[in-house]
Amino acid sequence: MTIAADANESAIRTRALRMVYHPGLMQRSKVALHSLNLDVPRASIYGFLGQNGAGKTSTIKILVALQMASAGRAWIMGTDVIHPAARQHIGFMPENPYFYEYLTAIETLVFYGKLSGMHGPSLTKKADALIEQFGLKQSRNTRMGEFSKGMRQRLGLAQAVLHEPAVVILDEPMSGLDPLGRRDIRNEILALRDRGCTVFFSSHILGDVADICDRVCIIHKGQHVAEGPISALLNQKVVEVEMAFSGIGPEGLPRLAEQARRAWHDGRLYRLLAADDDEALRLRAEAEAGGGTLRAMIPHHESLEEYFVRVTGEEGELKLLLDRAAEAASKKNAPVEGEKAAEAEEGAPAP
Ligand SMILES: Nc1ncnc2c1ncn2[C@@H]1O[C@H](COP(=O)(O)OP(=O)(O)OP(=O)(O)O)[C@@H](O)[C@H]1O
Ligand SMILES: [Mg+2]
Repeated sequence: MTIAADANESAIRTRALRMVYHPGLMQRSKVALHSLNLDVPRASIYGFLGQNGAGKTSTIKILVALQMASAGRAWIMGTDVIHPAARQHIGFMPENPYFYEYLTAIETLVFYGKLSGMHGPSLTKKADALIEQFGLKQSRNTRMGEFSKGMRQRLGLAQAVLHEPAVVILDEPMSGLDPLGRRDIRNEILALRDRGCTVFFSSHILGDVADICDRVCIIHKGQHVAEGPISALLNQKVVEVEMAFSGIGPEGLPRLAEQARRAWHDGRLYRLLAADDDEALRLRAEAEAGGGTLRAMIPHHESLEEYFVRVTGEEGELKLLLDRAAEAASKKNAPVEGEKAAEAEEGAPAP
C-alpha cells in the first residue's frame, strides 16, 4: 500500500476502521471496532470517550501501529499508519506506561530520545527541561522502580512529547492521578495545543474532558455514537434549576423538600433543586412566603457525563442497532474494500 495520495488536512483520519480479535482456536472472535471514521483537526484537543471495552485502546493501537487493523485505513498527518514514516509524527503514551525499573528518570528520557533519533547535549538539555516542566526535578536521579503511579504518568507524557511530535496520542493520561496531577496534565495538554500540536486522548474523567477538548468522539461497543464540539452535542435546554435561600426556618424545609427534586443545607444556605422552570417558580413563591430570601438561582444544563450516559445507554443501543442494520444493508450492495467476509462476523469461531 502506498502513502495516502489524498493528503488531507486532518491530523488523524480513519476510514471504515475495523478490528476483529481471534483469541484462539475454537474461541469466539470479537469485533472490537466496527467501522470507525475519524477526522481530527490539526492543532486541536480531541477527546476519545467510551465505556470500558468500547474499543478506545484498540483504535489507539492501530494508530500507533502496535497492531494492524482487520480492515479500513488510518492516516496520521496524511501518512498511512502502516508506513513507518507515520511514526515520526507521533508521540505516544500507552494506558499503563512501562519503564525499565533500573533506569533513573533522566536516563529513561535520554533512552527514549535516542530511540527517536535525538542525541548529544541537546537531548540531555531537553530531557532536563521536561523533567522540570513536569514537576519531577527532585526525582531526576530516582530509579523508575521507585516512581509512584502519578510520577510515571508525568514521565510518560514527558517521553511522549520529547521529540516535539505533531500529534500526541495519550491513552487514559489522567487515570490514577490526584487532582493536582490531573490539573498539571490538563495544562500540559492545553500548552501542547497552543504550540500547534494535535492531542488525541482517551479518558473516563469526563470533567477534565469537558474542560479542555475542542471536539469529542464517543464510541460504544466499537461503534461511533456521537462526534463534535461539546457545546454542540449537549442539550442546551435547562434540565434542572438550583436555588439557594436564606431565612428558611427548620420547620419550613421539610415541606419544601417534599416538593423539590432535592433539598439540603450547605452549611450556610438552604438549597433546593427543581425539575424545571415552572417547579422553580412554585418553590420560590412558597419559600418566600415562609420568610425565605432568594440568594441565587442557577439553571443547570446537561453535563458531558449526563450526555455520555444518555448516548451510551438506551439511546446509544438503539443507534447501534440502526447503524448495524444500515451497515449490513450497504455491505450487501458494496462490501468494504479489503475486508474479509470470514473475519467480519462476530462470534464466528477462529479459523
Ligand atoms: N488482544 C485481544 N484479544 C481479544 N479481545 C480483545 C483484545 N484486546 C481487546 N479485546 C476486546 O476488545 C474490546 C475493546 O477493548 P479495548 O481495550 O479497545 O477497550 P477500551 O475502550 O480501551 O476499554 P478500557 O476503557 O477498559 O481501557 C473489549 O471487548 C476487549 O475485551
Ligand atoms: Mg483502554
